[in-house]
Amino acid sequence: MNARLRLVADRSAATAEHPPAGAEPLHEEPGPGAARCLGLYAKLAAGVTVVTARGEDGPLGMTVSAVTSLSARPPLLLACLRDGSRTLAAVRLRRTFAVHLLREEQQELAGRFASPTTTAAERFAGTETRQVLGVPVLAGALAWSVCLTEDVRRYGDHHLVVGRMAAVHVGAGRPLLWHDRRFGVVTEPVPDAAG
Ligand SMILES: Cc1cc2nc3c(=O)[nH]c(=O)nc-3n(C[C@H](O)[C@H](O)[C@H](O)COP(=O)(O)O)c2cc1C
Repeated sequence: MNARLRLVADRSAATAEHPPAGAEPLHEEPGPGAARCLGLYAKLAAGVTVVTARGEDGPLGMTVSAVTSLSARPPLLLACLRDGSRTLAAVRLRRTFAVHLLREEQQELAGRFASPTTTAAERFAGTETRQVLGVPVLAGALAWSVCLTEDVRRYGDHHLVVGRMAAVHVGAGRPLLWHDRRFGVVTEPVPDAAG
């Protein structure tokens, strides 16, 4: 990746010693071990997204950096959601979810949707939301897609969720990035909106 990163803030991140609330403790297996694995994952530069879904009692959502493009024909993307996540439960139940690629100005929102101490209502408070195909879509993202859940498969302590994109919106701006357990931004010219 050529983008130059400006590291702007520390965020508490999951480690082998401090797994996220609700997650199973990490068990050591033959191989490099979970702590070294997480060390490698920390070096993966990624865009920051918020995945939302409709829960039984209202909207649910969480910050996710493990989102990847998968296919254009058909249009598929994938997201890796941790075991025990409330959002994952709603994605599995409703079979629809939305992925929002965040802009660099949305660091606070990313922190809010990751905090284990915020309720679902607190995560959405103050953020304009509308329903698209029955899924809560947040205003102000760099881009978003509403997806139909195509496949959910458990791998270790996460589930791989494949979504078939049913609606897509692409706006303008710079993405919010995650690298070395910190938020970062691209310091290159802002591209035009691409339809
Ligand atoms: C920058 C950042 C990226 C994250 N990426 C992921 C991810 O890819 N997958 C995941 O399961 N959790 C990820 N998390 C942690 C979740 O956002 C966090 O566990 C959240 O509280 C889960 O919410 P829920 O249980 O209400 O669904 C990330 C957190 C941060 C701060």
